Amino acid sequence: MDMRFSVVTIFPDMIEAFKKFGVVAQAIAEGIIEVNVYNLRDFTTDKHRVVDDYPFGGGPGMVMKAEPFFRFYDFYLKEFGKPYVVLTSPQGRIFDNEKAMELSQKKDVVIFCGRYEGIDERVMDIVDEEISIGDYVLTGGELAAMVIVDATSRFVPGVVDEESVKRESFMKDLLDHPVYTRPRNVRGKSVPEVLLSGDHERIEVWRRKESMKKTILKRPDLFLKKESFDRIDKLSIIELFRELIKSAQ
Ligand SMILES: C[S@@+](CC[C@H](N)C(=O)[O-])C[C@H]1O[C@@H](n2cnc3c(N)ncnc32)[C@H](O)[C@@H]1O
Repeated sequence: MDMRFSVVTIFPDMIEAFKKFGVVAQAIAEGIIEVNVYNLRDFTTDKHRVVDDYPFGGGPGMVMKAEPFFRFYDFYLKEFGKPYVVLTSPQGRIFDNEKAMELSQKKDVVIFCGRYEGIDERVMDIVDEEISIGDYVLTGGELAAMVIVDATSRFVPGVVDEESVKRESFMKDLLDHPVYTRPRNVRGKSVPEVLLSGDHERIEVWRRKESMKKTILKRPDLFLKKESFDRIDKLSIIELFRELIKSAQ
């Protein structure tokens, strides 16, 4: 096992369902990643397994109690040693590809899912980092945890084909190129001829050119971040200019 994720939640079934599908399920079956799910209620001590209480100072909603999280943490330290603890929170740093890549180096990541009005602030003592999946407020951290596990596990070697990880959107600060599959003609639209040419360099240059076009049009901010231009990048810029000049003639 190369990477262990442990998700702490009051809705374990949400994460258990996520574990059953697609690439994540396959990576678990192959023993490359582990996705453990812990029910926070198992770390309570009262008969009713209560995980929330009223906020001190008043106000709406409930707050998740600190003690079950601390009890979970003590258990985890004994069982596996010190993990990297992520708290899902709209107040955290926005999750992106870079963060996913960085987390994939941690090997042992615990993710706390909040609910209600959030988690008692004292839990921050055992949190290494707060992560948000976007500037909106979810009703709970489970969707965020799934996003984090999904995107991070793609960077664990062996989970997906390494060539496709390198090619995908955001790598090299470019969006991915368009893709096509059989048949060659669909409703009068045919596949770009170059993809049928068998000429690997031409195909590579065409794909990079299309990536550049998409990025410049859809995400100019991303393109502005691009600092290095390799040979294929340069050839594709030449192609792009040729295409523009031709279409203007
Ligand atoms: C209703 S929210 C609490 C929001 C909190 N009162 C605030 O405004 O910061 C409940 C839980 O959902 C999760 N959550 C909500 N929005 C999120 C986001 N954008 N990214 C990651 N987790 C989020 C967090 O775990 C949070 O504790």
